[in-house]
Amino acid sequence: MKIAVGADHGGFELKESIKKHLEELGGYEIVDYGTHSSDSVDYAEIAYKVGKAVTQDGDEKILGILCCGTGIGISIAANKVKGVRAACCSDTFSARYTRLHNDANILCMGGRVVGEGLANELVDAFLGSEFEGGRHQRRIDQITAIENETFKISD
Ligand code: RB5
Repeated sequence: MKIAVGADHGGFELKESIKKHLEELGGYEIVDYGTHSSDSVDYAEIAYKVGKAVTQDGDEKILGILCCGTGIGISIAANKVKGVRAACCSDTFSARYTRLHNDANILCMGGRVVGEGLANELVDAFLGSEFEGGRHQRRIDQITAIENETFKISD
């Protein structure tokens, strides 16, 4: 599976550590959208690039991993890309259930929030879980309707 990764300076070191973890696991093609150093950069562009990568047309399933200082700014930015469901997680239960129930396509973490060991466990929980569909698909469809301005408010 292809994994699109990205980070700003606040998440750079965590991204590098996660890439190493994925390489050790094997079986993942990692595409790194930067940043490539600890120099200060704005996270929106990186969020945008990873967001576009995971939502691009095609048969290939691509998931994303984004890191900034808190994981929050980069998740907010990524969620502005149509079709992105980015979840900022710092516990494994949420990292697992955001795949199972929300069909999240990007996991976001804070380099100033989670350590490398926990981040690896979050990544494992996220990548090791599949969307359950069923009643959750209806809710994802509602989120998509909000995105498309076609949401119908029930009486
Ligand atoms: C950068 O200092 C920091 O604001 C950024 O990495 C992130 O935490 C924003 O949400």
